[in-house]
Amino acid sequence: MNEPIRLARPDVGEAELAAVAEVIATGMLTMGPKVGELECALAGACGTSDAVVVSSGTAALHLAMMALGIGPGDEVIVPAYTFPATANAVEICGGRAVIVDVDPDTFNLDVALVAAAVTPRTKAVVPVHLFGRPVPWEELQAAVPPGIPLVEDAAGALGARFRGTPCGSLGVMGCLSFHPRKIVTTGEGGAVTTSDPARADAIRRFRHHGIVTRGDYDIPQPGLNYRMPDILCAIGIPQVERLEQLLSARERVAGWYTERLEHLVLTPAAAEGDRHGWQAYVVQLDRRDEALKALRAEGIEVQIGTYALHHLGAYRDQGPFPGADRAFARALALPFATSMTEAECDRVALALARFV
Ligand SMILES: Cc1ncc(COP(=O)(O)O)c(C=O)c1O
Repeated sequence: MNEPIRLARPDVGEAELAAVAEVIATGMLTMGPKVGELECALAGACGTSDAVVVSSGTAALHLAMMALGIGPGDEVIVPAYTFPATANAVEICGGRAVIVDVDPDTFNLDVALVAAAVTPRTKAVVPVHLFGRPVPWEELQAAVPPGIPLVEDAAGALGARFRGTPCGSLGVMGCLSFHPRKIVTTGEGGAVTTSDPARADAIRRFRHHGIVTRGDYDIPQPGLNYRMPDILCAIGIPQVERLEQLLSARERVAGWYTERLEHLVLTPAAAEGDRHGWQAYVVQLDRRDEALKALRAEGIEVQIGTYALHHLGAYRDQGPFPGADRAFARALALPFATSMTEAECDRVALALARFV
């Protein structure tokens, strides 16, 4: 049997090991200098004035919803095809996640359907740059009445760009994830990016129990412990410093896959003028389930794309969403990593070709 090909292989090594050793030597394992260093690097990469690191992408979404004051009676528009954290963050705050269908070819919100979902109770829209593909931002802005904030779920879009503008700086806030399948990983971790310093301050307070760190240590509003430890921040810093290198490597691997697969299956791409972040390389084919089973059986670790919210118990009261149904049934995430070789892409493509 051939060597297994893992779904993801984080690009971490000597630089990360040295950075962690440095933190251990200082003994400042949380809320030390690495937090600010990672925040600076992320704000630089996203082109925002601030970035606030937190314990996960889910925590970032939750705090973004708290910073907007989402609560009972409020509606927040989310795409039907996304990782459930996008909608869960709204509902955990007591709001209602209003599901809008996606374009099954791009996997992103079908912007033409957004305007009809807006009601007087709509308090925000959370578009997702799914798998790193930027949402058509100007069309989305035009579909949403001014005054309703757009919050990016940019969990997989660090480094992606809409017409040259970095994802994470397009909306009033951007939410990043550093899970091991993401472009930069710290194992677990996330960040909220924003160019509104008052919002950044609110997120910092909510991340740390609601404590006002300057002044009288008051807790005007309750918060949580969503802090990111220095050890994990240290793992992220060298990766953000070489972000361009990571993105180029991902572009190279995506190119190898596209060359081999574009005549066989629906292959992913960014819109003209945009930069894909390539968090994942997700193709679409009719015989997805058969392919998934067979490739796994031969050691090629593939995965479904993501979830269709209306198929989940928590969100079953909405629908139908034919775009999300189609994506959910046909999407297949292929093994993807900066260290993938052309020979590995050949093996995946050959295995997949049997199912088209
Ligand atoms: C689109 C999207 N949003 C949110 C998240 C949640 O991020 P985390 O796993 O860091 O909590 C993920 C993670 O897979 C995601 O893909």
